[in-house]
Amino acid sequence: MSASPDQSRYAGLRAQAEVLDGEDSLRHLRNEFLIPSHADIQRKTLGQEDRSGNADHTDEAKPCTYLCGNSLGLQPKRTATRIQQYLGTWATQGVQGHFKPLEDSPLPTWLDADARAASLIAPIVGADESEVAVMQTLTANLHLLMSAFYRPDPNGRHKIILENKAFPSDHFAVLSQIRHHGLSPETSMVTIESPFSEDPVISTYDIQSLISKHAADTALIILPGIQYYTGQLFDIPTITAFAHKHGIFIIWDLAHAAGNVSLSLHDWDVDAAAWCTYKYLNGGPGCIGGLFIHSRNSLVTTTIADENPERGYGNRLSGWWGNDKGTRFAMQTKFHPVKGAAGFQLSNPSILDITSLSASLEVFGLAGGMKALREKSKKLTAFLENCLAHMSEEARALVRTITPSDPEQRGAQLSLMLNDGLLSSTLKVLEERGIIVDERKPNVIRVAPAPLYNSFQDCLTFAEGLEAGLLAAQTSPQI
Ligand SMILES: Cc1ncc(COP(=O)(O)O)c(C=O)c1O
Repeated sequence: MSASPDQSRYAGLRAQAEVLDGEDSLRHLRNEFLIPSHADIQRKTLGQEDRSGNADHTDEAKPCTYLCGNSLGLQPKRTATRIQQYLGTWATQGVQGHFKPLEDSPLPTWLDADARAASLIAPIVGADESEVAVMQTLTANLHLLMSAFYRPDPNGRHKIILENKAFPSDHFAVLSQIRHHGLSPETSMVTIESPFSEDPVISTYDIQSLISKHAADTALIILPGIQYYTGQLFDIPTITAFAHKHGIFIIWDLAHAAGNVSLSLHDWDVDAAAWCTYKYLNGGPGCIGGLFIHSRNSLVTTTIADENPERGYGNRLSGWWGNDKGTRFAMQTKFHPVKGAAGFQLSNPSILDITSLSASLEVFGLAGGMKALREKSKKLTAFLENCLAHMSEEARALVRTITPSDPEQRGAQLSLMLNDGLLSSTLKVLEERGIIVDERKPNVIRVAPAPLYNSFQDCLTFAEGLEAGLLAAQTSPQI
């Protein structure tokens, strides 16, 4: 175990954390989650102990400090209950589970499970229920959106603008869409980069300048709501309005924004967006994704005979689950989509996934919505920042925060860039102290206090651990 930093430097913060945790009106929600214990994160077996958190009060049984909701959110306790209820329905009802409501079940019929999940997620992203579909996975949904809304004209608008450090999956998706249309990424792909090599943050001005430069021949923009590496929150309404001013369709990747910051996708006039549900939405690893399509982009007529590309849906990639519920089981071969985003569904969704996601979305309901969560989140991240500022001068010289300091330009996450060669030794010390964060090689630690289950004390524990880790790493750097 590494040497502990000077405890007296943190005394004031310890008292402050206690007060802030005591005043936190959402603190009871932590008890909705299963937080791995110190023993859990060291173990090499599955372990079969009581996971209620009440079994044992030894240090080893104490919860770890989990600050990794930006990568994989923790498991809500009610997820197991809801999945058991789903398994029970399947066991006792078989195929009838699709249509037959059970009087004592909190779960919808499987036929209605997608719509129910959409209604739970709509307020989280600031959309009308009909504008949201719970379906597929993030990258697949980006492809589906592009297949419907990227219609390049080689002699007119054909370019896609994205950031030069986009999450690789988004980059690959854009590359492959361009090639799929017989175009070349060299001429049709434009990337935005930060003008400063030492500061990866991209300003709204930089984005607008690039859009202006390529406005005449750009068909589509894809940007992240929150940049996965830096934690920067982009100004979604301003950039969306600017894209529209230039006649460009814009898709937002909200992987790191959904369930993290307040979103008003409908009111911001966002064209379309997609997200995953395993980060701040706590749906579970690889859980079903979601997408938003503004109502003006998913208009359908009521007459089947009107199917045609000009009316906005003939060109979308389609499957039977996108067909109107009323005629879905009539097995006709005339595609007539459900109105709204649900009309973009392809297959009948995994009810196991939707059950897991919906269980977690119930917890968001208990929080009273995103406004309260975001308020707590801002306080938590500001407190984390303050704790980091209290590290010794020696430790502070070994790390810098690359996330914007303005709370309006970030969500929960702070990304910390360590001096070269310090990452693995620092992470080792953090792990020894039962602190779980996320690393981006070669030298970034992403740390995200999630307001549903993290405490102010967690932020302080991390700062103390980071100081110890950095100082230990400095004496044995690994290049
Ligand atoms: C910003 C971003 N885009 C895309 C992806 C890929 O998501 P998926 O594997 O669910 O398609 C991720 C995954 O973490 C992500 O963070």
